Amino acid sequence: MSVVYLNGEFMPAEKATVSVFDRGFLLGDGVYEVIPAFSGCLFRLTEHLERLQNSLDAIRLENPFSSDQWEDMLKQLIAENMSPELSIYLQVTRGVAVRDHAFPADAKPSIFAMANPIQKLAESYFKNGVGAITAVDNRWQRCNIKAISLLPNVLLRQQAVEQGVAEAILIRDGNVTEGSASNVFVVFNGKILTPPKGQYILPGITRDLVLELANVNNMECGEETITQDMLFSADEVWLTSSTKEVLSVTKIDDKPVGQGKPGPVWQRMVDIYREYKNSLLEQPRC
Ligand code: PDD
Repeated sequence: MSVVYLNGEFMPAEKATVSVFDRGFLLGDGVYEVIPAFSGCLFRLTEHLERLQNSLDAIRLENPFSSDQWEDMLKQLIAENMSPELSIYLQVTRGVAVRDHAFPADAKPSIFAMANPIQKLAESYFKNGVGAITAVDNRWQRCNIKAISLLPNVLLRQQAVEQGVAEAILIRDGNVTEGSASNVFVVFNGKILTPPKGQYILPGITRDLVLELANVNNMECGEETITQDMLFSADEVWLTSSTKEVLSVTKIDDKPVGQGKPGPVWQRMVDIYREYKNSLLEQPRC
């Protein structure tokens, strides 16, 4: 049984309970992060903690921990749940209070974190890529906040699952925003493109890393609007997230992407990404 962190204590998962009056439970009033840890090393921790701070600022909730305190707690959580590849989930809610939409005067934030082994993707995902559907992006206008209230994302992902594919690629006003739980890239006219940051996408940590790695390796890339037409005429389409890294999409709405198999630019990026990951693990302190 895994060990989780809840409000100052580490405990077996089955012992961890929160009040039914927690605003996370009643109102979805909280934010979260998902941070991968490889061989015990927290991957891109600084960037994840910066995004957490931005999410907390956006919902006007004070950060209960300093960066060092987050790091200490997460390292202890990893030590309690050792596995080669972990997905660390943490969430902060506005705490326990009498139900009212307005902020309570004196609630204490609830802090929860768990660590789960990342399921290794089947080899077929690398050989064949994954399928996706397109769906109307019917979420709110503050998608840059990593909010725990994920009902629209849940419904959109379920739509994809029921059509037998991995992800829903979201379209707002004719343009690609992101996936229900991932960012989207296309390779179009030889250039790697992803939509610019703003209120309609989550600023993905993997997204930024892919852009950084593309730049360092002199692969042409940019942050540009991707129209729905570009999505369907792209040579390659990728999805990125902390737990899935860089996935190739080879079918959208039952139409093949490019040649209908993972493309050469994706293959190069996956190799570069792997190399980068390995180089971090070789450093004495990660
Ligand atoms: N989701 N966009 C959305 C809507 C997401 O939920 C995620 C990640 C991403 C990718 O962000 P990152 O590269 O920082 O993981 C983009 C996580 C994994 C989740 O909700 O489980």
